[in-house]
Amino acid sequence: MYLIYILVKHTNVTATTTLLQYLRRYAHLKGTKYMCLEGGCGACIVSVTTKHPITKRTVTFAVNSCLVSILSCEDWHIHTVDGIGNRKIGYHPIQKVLADFNGTQCGFCSPGMVMNMYALSESNSDLTMKQVENSFGGNMCRCTGYRPILTAFKSLAKDATTEILGKYPDIEDLSECGKRDCQKICSSACRKQFTLDLCSKLADAKWFKVFSINEIFDVLRKISYNTYQLVAGNTARGVYRDFNGNPDIYIDITNVTSLLNDEVTAGGLVIGANKTLTDTIDVFRRKATVDRLAYLNKLADHIELVAHVPVRNIGTLAGNLTIKHKRNEFPSDIFLILETVGARVTIVNSRKEEEEMDLLHYLTFNMEMKVMKNIILPKLDDSFKYGSYKIMQRTQNAYAMVNAGILLKLDCNHTVQSARIVYGGINPSFHHATKAEQYLIGKQIFDDGTLQGAFQALDEDIHPDNVLPDPSPKFRKTLAISLFYKFVLSIAPNDKVSPRNKSGGSLLSRPISTGVQDFQTNESLYPLTQAIPKLEALGQTSGEVEYITDLPDSHDQLYACFVTTKAPANSLVTNIDPSEALKQPGVVSFYSAKDIPGLNTFFPPNANVPLGFIPPQMQIVPEELFCSGVVKYYFQPLGMIVANTQELAEMAADMVKAEYSPGENPFLSIRQILAAGANDRIHEEASLEASRKGEDIKHVVKGTFDTTWQYHYHMETQICAVVPKEDSLDIYPGTQWMDFVQVAVASVLKISENYINIIVKRVGGAYGAKITRCAQTACAAALAAHKLQKPVKMQMSFSMNMDVVGKRFPSAADYEVGLNDKGEIQYLNHTLYLDYATGGNESMISHSIGIFVSSYMHDTWNVAGNYTQTDNHAGTMTRAPGNTKIMAMIETIMEHVAMELNIPPLEIRLANMDPNQNKPILQSINECRQWCDYDNRLRNVEEFNKNNRWRKKGLSLVPMTYLLRYIGSLNSRVVIYAGDGTVAVSHGGIEIGQGINTKVAQVCAYALGISLDMVSVKASSNFVSPNNFTTGASITSEKVCYATLRACETLLERMKPVKDRMDNPSWKELVKECQNQYIELAASHMYNPYDPVQTYDIYSVCATEIEVDILTGIHQVVRVDLLEDTGNSMSPFVDIGQVEGAFIMGLGFWTIEKPVFDNEGRILTDRTWNYKIPGALDIPIDFRVKFPKNNPNPNGVLHSKATAEPPLCLSCSVPIAIRQAVASARKEADANALKWYPINGPSDVENTILNSLNDYTQYTL
Ligand SMILES: Cc1cc2nc3c(=O)[nH]c(=O)nc-3n(C[C@H](O)[C@H](O)[C@H](O)COP(=O)(O)OP(=O)(O)OC[C@H]3O[C@@H](n4cnc5c(N)ncnc54)[C@H](O)[C@@H]3O)c2cc1C
Ligand code: FES
Ligand code: FES
Repeated sequence: MYLIYILVKHTNVTATTTLLQYLRRYAHLKGTKYMCLEGGCGACIVSVTTKHPITKRTVTFAVNSCLVSILSCEDWHIHTVDGIGNRKIGYHPIQKVLADFNGTQCGFCSPGMVMNMYALSESNSDLTMKQVENSFGGNMCRCTGYRPILTAFKSLAKDATTEILGKYPDIEDLSECGKRDCQKICSSACRKQFTLDLCSKLADAKWFKVFSINEIFDVLRKISYNTYQLVAGNTARGVYRDFNGNPDIYIDITNVTSLLNDEVTAGGLVIGANKTLTDTIDVFRRKATVDRLAYLNKLADHIELVAHVPVRNIGTLAGNLTIKHKRNEFPSDIFLILETVGARVTIVNSRKEEEEMDLLHYLTFNMEMKVMKNIILPKLDDSFKYGSYKIMQRTQNAYAMVNAGILLKLDCNHTVQSARIVYGGINPSFHHATKAEQYLIGKQIFDDGTLQGAFQALDEDIHPDNVLPDPSPKFRKTLAISLFYKFVLSIAPNDKVSPRNKSGGSLLSRPISTGVQDFQTNESLYPLTQAIPKLEALGQTSGEVEYITDLPDSHDQLYACFVTTKAPANSLVTNIDPSEALKQPGVVSFYSAKDIPGLNTFFPPNANVPLGFIPPQMQIVPEELFCSGVVKYYFQPLGMIVANTQELAEMAADMVKAEYSPGENPFLSIRQILAAGANDRIHEEASLEASRKGEDIKHVVKGTFDTTWQYHYHMETQICAVVPKEDSLDIYPGTQWMDFVQVAVASVLKISENYINIIVKRVGGAYGAKITRCAQTACAAALAAHKLQKPVKMQMSFSMNMDVVGKRFPSAADYEVGLNDKGEIQYLNHTLYLDYATGGNESMISHSIGIFVSSYMHDTWNVAGNYTQTDNHAGTMTRAPGNTKIMAMIETIMEHVAMELNIPPLEIRLANMDPNQNKPILQSINECRQWCDYDNRLRNVEEFNKNNRWRKKGLSLVPMTYLLRYIGSLNSRVVIYAGDGTVAVSHGGIEIGQGINTKVAQVCAYALGISLDMVSVKASSNFVSPNNFTTGASITSEKVCYATLRACETLLERMKPVKDRMDNPSWKELVKECQNQYIELAASHMYNPYDPVQTYDIYSVCATEIEVDILTGIHQVVRVDLLEDTGNSMSPFVDIGQVEGAFIMGLGFWTIEKPVFDNEGRILTDRTWNYKIPGALDIPIDFRVKFPKNNPNPNGVLHSKATAEPPLCLSCSVPIAIRQAVASARKEADANALKWYPINGPSDVENTILNSLNDYTQYTL
């Protein structure tokens, strides 16, 4: 274990140097990863052990190293993933367990996961599964869908269930590990003296460490400065990046004990203002046993919804309140709950005078040269009823769209004596619903008349502002009022409230999640079909594997950052002025379009796109590397800055000035194009025509179905490192397609392709974003490296990645269906649009249109597939790019028809299937129906909905016939080393987390008849695998496995004559003899479409049960039963991982993720603060995945089927089930309302509330 006693050389660090930067840049510990740099992703989590400033006990906790200033780390023993276990000293049980449970895919999140668990287990030797499951809200994983990660870590809990226990160590073993041999290593290898004076003079500021409030004022009085910052947790900049600017002095107050104490006095609980949120929860829970402080438990529950564990471990009450003080619009949960109970704060000034005030007064109080000392929470007896709510985009780690706190004092007749009703998320100046507060005084609360009066008062009180990207004012107002209703239901005695309304009073509670992974293996084929962890899993969980960002920097390393246009599409760039940026010391150069020696496009006309990649009628669109005049989309790259640090490059990029003259208004959505009749922006790509039209038309159903963008959210953002060598340009791109990068760079630089070496070991998540988009970063980095003849790394920040790179295509669809009374479709006219925007090189409709019809009889269906060209960043391939939407379109139509005809949706589906033509999917439907007990559960759902007005359930069942088609060539080269018989493979696929290397190794070992540990898989390169197609479309693993198989067969053929001449030789003997006989022990095969591997269909079905809280819009995925056709899986753990991960990415798309743009086309959700993907508690509570048994694929490779993308399409079962639940509420709200409503974008909280037709006139007891 490396206990890092940091040597701070003042010249090395600045006040803004973070612990993360220190670890990676100065301590050269690259195991700790990073992505967002704002506390939002968890990749950078490390564990800290130190003495608690008050209790003096040794404590261990997790922190986001990207938020912590290195100067705050005095007396901290920091444990990073590199040190708690590794190849040399042995792996830590947490690292092992995560690997063994298949909890890694791309592995980029794994070090953060491990360290969060490490800190958790070190701090609590009595962990329960519930505690484990609740503690990962700050760790994002886009690949796995969390289930295996949670299962792995729950296996270490004291109450771990028998299914997940087994061979894994329990928590006691973990703490023992801390005393293992690692101590020896750390003491000899890296223990250094921490030498930080109380005052450190840094290059950019001064840093003071103080121990009393007096010392704070001493510094403020004696030192000259213009601006200062008190440093507590330093996490506020995770909320507002520039929160404190660049102050002249920093005062570290984390050891000022008078800001950390707590005591119960006659007046209540006095708690130190800089108590961390974690400690506050602890104090609240303990003091809740004190007379009249029981309500503190509810406050603690609310604080558990603030941020996530590592932020709460260092973020403080005063820090949070200061954010609210400076930025009134901040929906602070701490302010909300404290103001609700009438807490007061004590402020000290430099004359040591203390002033106590309420929080509203504090908000307008001048805090210059003042310190918040403590917070006083009053004693409240049982006559006070408290409730608070926080409604978020996802279950954990999201800010409140609306939060509400209510405190009513009731007498024994339930008459209101006093009322405090506080809201956040309404507008910056709104805190109390004063009219409602006044109205309620003297009223009987459990009375429908009183309630209606209160709702009307709230209606008058609440005026939400309209500021994007916040949700709509209408939604926030409806929600705010319904939260008050929920509160009243929650405190109403049973005899005062109708049984149907009662469940509206509670929030959805989530039990510990479980999962089933049901698959079959065939021992006679092992290691083929064997369920094994990924080859690289331990390297990933220990941080040993290298990503591009980890490649060692050379002494003359440079970093680059795009400069982007800050003007709407169609503006003309009239001037670019980089002079201010170039004046900054350390800034090396600026390049723009005029500096490009070759073509100004990262999608060159001579790209090796295989036949069918772009439909014949479409041309390659030359997508500009740098804007050459007319802006194509807001934030299009305009040029680049090269500097000697990443931070400097980013800062200088912001200094480049550009002038623009306005152009025509941009088109920003498909519907805008359609409304304007801008037909030159609509193009037909593919269509299907009906061969007949039915005549029994009794009903006509019409509708629309629109979806929005989805960001890929790969944890490793777009990145490329380029190193000029004596006779080559060595390029390390984070790409799915090496050949594409090679051709693009050659074309931009006007150099020959054979001058370029491309090497890719692995990519930290891709999901389609790195098929062609990576070339943009690679070409820019190569341009700088080539011009300067120095190594250049270019890595996009999270925001830059969001701004510049396109996302999953938005879509729109209009349909009209004619039906008979049984719901059999007589005709269907469907027009779909996918928005390629300013792209068009990643076309999808031709590839995907088939899935619209594949599960159904469709001879009466007309489908027109069009693409549109808005002025947005290019629509980009994103896991199951076209299929996801196109399949959702037909399944939504089936639901629409069912609802209009009042026939169960499954019956409608079955009525439109042909028993012969659709036989396989019918069989799968039957199997799934039995397996998940669909019919009984459907009856239960109906019963539940009858009995509950404000809770509703839905149960969907969605079939999928996925047409898997092969395209493009891929290579594999297998090499046998004669000395020991070990084997190495290098192939043209890219390990993006999908487990391709594991499958290849399994196939290779199986084909050669050797054990798996004799096979290793090397980096991919354009020398071994030239001219290879991209990794993508789910087909790469199969193609590469096929190529590997054929290469192995070639080797075995060559070796056979030698073997025949020997007497039953061992593998080693045989290999040695082959070498003696000059047999070439290396062979390649390039898969090509003429190989005897045929296309096939995948038949899968998914049933999803949802429960919705109609008063909050929040839903829970109660259970998912996913029957996935994998043929005979080559590697079941890998395939299960693909299925679960894909489904959760789809779940995010359909229920949470919502990029918001302003009316100029500027994306407003370009931070982890406002773009959310599913977290650990958003996954199904009960997630069952089953691979059908004895299910060999007669086509395909080794009887298997592909898994990476198809299961994502089944995630449309989630919004469908939500809609069913909402429909039940909608019917009760307004029997005359249209049953069907269009959903534009995700079925999120806002959509649910608004479409349930919630209206306070319906809110009765
Ligand atoms: C990822 C993330 C998610 C979050 N989610 C939520 C959420 O859901 N709900 C929510 O309410 N909050 C949320 N927060 C905000 C979080 O609670 C605050 O960042 C944290 O509490 C700030 O405390 P700190 O000690 O880190 O403050 P610091 O960053 O150290 O300081 C912030 C400011 O407070 C001032 N200050 C600190 N102590 C004092 C004092 N004693 N007297 C006077 N001034 C002082 C400092 O000068 C500074 O200007 C989130 C934050 C992050 C990073
Ligand atoms: S990099 Fe620190 S939380 Fe994302
Ligand atoms: S494995 Fe978690 S993000 Fe890739």
